[in-house]
Amino acid sequence: MKKKIAVLAGDGIGPEVVAQGLKVLDAVAERSEHEFTYCHADIGARAIKKTGDPLPESTVDACLNSDAVLLGAIGDPEYDNAPDLKVRPEQGLLRLRQKLGLYCNIRPVKTYKELLHLSPLRPEAVEGVDMVIYRELTGGIYFGEKGRSEDGQSAFDTCTYSVREIERIAKQAFEAAGHRRKKVTLVDKANVLETSRLWRKTVTEFAKQYPDIELDFMYVDNAAMQLVVHPKQFDVILTNNMFGDIISDEASVFVGSLGMLPSSSVGFKTSLFEPIHGSYPQAAGKDIANPVATILSVALMLKSLGLYKDAFRIEQAVSACLNKGIGTPDLNPNITYSCSQMGDVIASIVSGADVKYERISDGISTII
Ligand code: IPM
Ligand code: MG
Repeated sequence: MKKKIAVLAGDGIGPEVVAQGLKVLDAVAERSEHEFTYCHADIGARAIKKTGDPLPESTVDACLNSDAVLLGAIGDPEYDNAPDLKVRPEQGLLRLRQKLGLYCNIRPVKTYKELLHLSPLRPEAVEGVDMVIYRELTGGIYFGEKGRSEDGQSAFDTCTYSVREIERIAKQAFEAAGHRRKKVTLVDKANVLETSRLWRKTVTEFAKQYPDIELDFMYVDNAAMQLVVHPKQFDVILTNNMFGDIISDEASVFVGSLGMLPSSSVGFKTSLFEPIHGSYPQAAGKDIANPVATILSVALMLKSLGLYKDAFRIEQAVSACLNKGIGTPDLNPNITYSCSQMGDVIASIVSGADVKYERISDGISTII
């Protein structure tokens, strides 16, 4: 199988973690019949510096002409405390989501036994957590009409949703639940917001097509609490753009490191895969970032291309590393691996090399 991948490394640690993702993808290609070609393009602060635009047209074209998009991270501290700047790196990502019609953002959150001690929650509370968040990604308050009054004394952001927008993401969430524990929790604020009431009505009606799937509802404030009190109750969470942004960061702490969580964004054509973490500018260029979230995003990408066996091999390789205590500083402060070493080890396991773990943990040499 031949596939063309658009690679948008982006800002901060983006290029470092993406390089590890590609290393692993090359290892997949090496031991299979598949061929992956890469088309690198700019986005975010890097693109602004080069072209003045966080999402140049050539980048959109590269994505539209590819079978999948792999993204690193976007964001630069230069822009964080300058709310009046008109051109911002994040606009690149938001516009890309719109251009590719990526209405469904999927964030799986599954804890690893080996990392339970890193979670700020009690190990027994997070052990066995296995949920997935379906966040609507191209509507709501992110994309509604917004502005400031002429005198600068007020501002507004509008939240709008249509039945069609709600139904298409509900479909994705219910289909996923069918392959899981058959439970969908709609997170909203239907006691206050009209859009949330439309979500409830639409999803309740839609759920009739899936009689074997349990549907329950939770206000977002309660969900924020329930997530930390009793996270195991959740299977599939379905929610809007803004609530999904917030609770998916909250849910990421179960795993113990932001550096472990992949995501995919699905639309009408090309899907996009990216780690959920940001550009972590303090670590940029130091080769210390955790590449696992990106590597697992590559696994999600392979699944979406129908290459389940190869995806599974990557996930197994990550588990094998954790099992042997191999990790970047966020995972294991004692025996630490650099970002690129971690990529090397995972790529070697994927390519079927005879990896001598004892020697790895001595930090001497890695792969034989
Ligand atoms: C995310 C990020 C983005 C969002 C930012 C970078 C615009 O937080 O993907 O969750 O808010 O959607
Ligand atoms: Mg976010």
